[in-house]
Amino acid sequence: MKTMPIPKQLVIIGGCGHVGLPLGIVFATCGVNVVLLDIDQHKIDIVNGGRMPFMEKSAEELLKSVIGKSLMATSDHSCLRNADAAIAVIGTPVDEHLNPTVTHLYGHIDSTLDPLPDGALLVLRSTVYPGVTKLVYDRVRSRGRRIHVAFCPERIAEGKAMEEIRTLPQIISAFEPEALRLVRELFAIINDDLIELDPLEAELAKLFTNSWRYLNFAISNQFYVIAESCGLNFYRIYEAVTRRYPRMKNFASAGFAAGPCLLKDTLQLSAFSSNNFFMGHAAMLINEGLPNFVVSHLRKCGLQGKTVAILGMAFKGDSDDSRESLSYKLRKLLALEAKEVLCTDPYVEDKGLIPLEEAIRRADIIVFGAPHSIYRAMLLPSEKEVVDVWGFRQKTKAADATGHK
Ligand SMILES: NC(=O)c1ccc[n+]([C@@H]2O[C@H](COP(=O)([O-])OP(=O)(O)OC[C@H]3O[C@@H](n4cnc5c(N)ncnc54)[C@H](O)[C@@H]3O)[C@@H](O)[C@H]2O)c1
Repeated sequence: MKTMPIPKQLVIIGGCGHVGLPLGIVFATCGVNVVLLDIDQHKIDIVNGGRMPFMEKSAEELLKSVIGKSLMATSDHSCLRNADAAIAVIGTPVDEHLNPTVTHLYGHIDSTLDPLPDGALLVLRSTVYPGVTKLVYDRVRSRGRRIHVAFCPERIAEGKAMEEIRTLPQIISAFEPEALRLVRELFAIINDDLIELDPLEAELAKLFTNSWRYLNFAISNQFYVIAESCGLNFYRIYEAVTRRYPRMKNFASAGFAAGPCLLKDTLQLSAFSSNNFFMGHAAMLINEGLPNFVVSHLRKCGLQGKTVAILGMAFKGDSDDSRESLSYKLRKLLALEAKEVLCTDPYVEDKGLIPLEEAIRRADIIVFGAPHSIYRAMLLPSEKEVVDVWGFRQKTKAADATGHK
């Protein structure tokens, strides 16, 4: 698999994040000397201490095996001076107007370029608005720098990074043959299944991937609302249509489709298509509307004067990541009408959360906000009203095979 001379030093910018850290660990386990450059000193200290700052299956064991040897974390930009390759994976959030913003990434581009030596490879791995790679490329050239620019989107799902970095095909792209050669050789160190695209194609490939997933969840959520609105159990129908029927095998379970990427990337694609991405817009209304549907359902059963517990504040099951979690939107909506809203999660760090047992004991109504495995077989007092949009307690298949994990 390894075809290139191992780089002297690979710097990962945003290296202590959900994408950067697993990637850095994988490169380091392949013998590459990796420096994780980050601005978050707390995370840097945790990583240098051999611990993961967030949940990622199998990562901590591997981290411990390489930290202080082929891997280290720092906030010192001067590490870029000795790099022959740098991969940038800092966040690319949408702004308060729901428009894509490149300030985080592009705003730091000069401070990245200045110390990088000529001849080095700069790989953008953040999910970017189409055309950003060209902007960066033009910036490099306008400054008279001979840095090779490439774009290689990350497509892992959080929690599966350590396995998927090595097994998912890697999309690589660059404007010039030499940059493409360098990035091909770099990624061949960790994965021998490489797909070459032009940068604009690769940028769209990533947005299509996340929007496709977001749209699929919206279909399930729309069907859930249709079935439940007329008093039916959606998952009885779900089980019926998916059983030994191959054309429905990708039918996802319903659930709070959220997190730091899916909505954001659907919005980026929408902005890129001059807001003509009608299916994307419909998906946003449906997915973002699911907490409102839960509240209106509970209102009919009598919400006033009741205490509601939300079990699971992460945006997906068996995760500690609460970024953009719809459980928080649900909490906000419920707080307007219920007597009290209690929230609990075994993994999320949030001072406002209470222990699971207390939440269950005090609640009249229980809503599953995230399908954590530990909730699956839990016995609940029969007098409590329970809302499980994920259906993960009714059926064994959905959340694992086709769902939001
Ligand atoms: N989280 C995922 O599962 C996932 C999957 C595929 C793609 N992506 C994309 O990858 C990118 C990063 O996402 P993430 O989830 O890893 O974000 P993250 O917030 O977990 O990580 C970003 C890291 O960058 C650091 N950082 C911010 N500004 C910096 C700077 N100027 N210099 C150095 N470090 C800086 C932060 O401290 C943080 O540790 C985004 O574009 C996202 O859309 C994420």
